[in-house]
Amino acid sequence: MPNKERISRKKFIGLGAALGLGSVGASVIAGCGGGGGSAGSGGTTTSTGTAESTAGGGPEVGKGQAIAKESEVTPEAAFPFTDAANGRPGMLVRLESGDLAAYSAVCTHQACTVAYRPEEKKLACPCHGSVFDPARGAAVENGPASSPLPRLDIEVREGEVFLA
Ligand code: FES
Repeated sequence: MPNKERISRKKFIGLGAALGLGSVGASVIAGCGGGGGSAGSGGTTTSTGTAESTAGGGPEVGKGQAIAKESEVTPEAAFPFTDAANGRPGMLVRLESGDLAAYSAVCTHQACTVAYRPEEKKLACPCHGSVFDPARGAAVENGPASSPLPRLDIEVREGEVFLA
């Protein structure tokens, strides 16, 4: 089942890349128009066009289901997921320190879904430009958001990363 979801997500990202700003526009509409909750997933290409960012809201992960294999989580490859308990998007990242961290991917400004920018190692919101630093507890690096992204508890068991 995870493979089926992953293939589906890749197709969606490919569609988003093909549509260019269309996927960003869809995120804006989905994330800001409803006044809260989760927005859909999607991918965008950075302004340099050299790296693809990864938006939160990937495969649904419930209790007992792994978000990813620990070895797969590198600073260049964040893992978006959706918390099955509340339907909210999250993001698992590998910090440059080597530690793993997971954060809510719901922007604290107006609830758009943030994306991971691997070239900067930051979580960025496509709606109004807020940037969060996962290495500093997802502190706000650039507003208009004024609060950090909530941290999600994770645990590593037998080489896989789970929501705690
Ligand atoms: Fe406004 Fe994220 S929703 S910056």
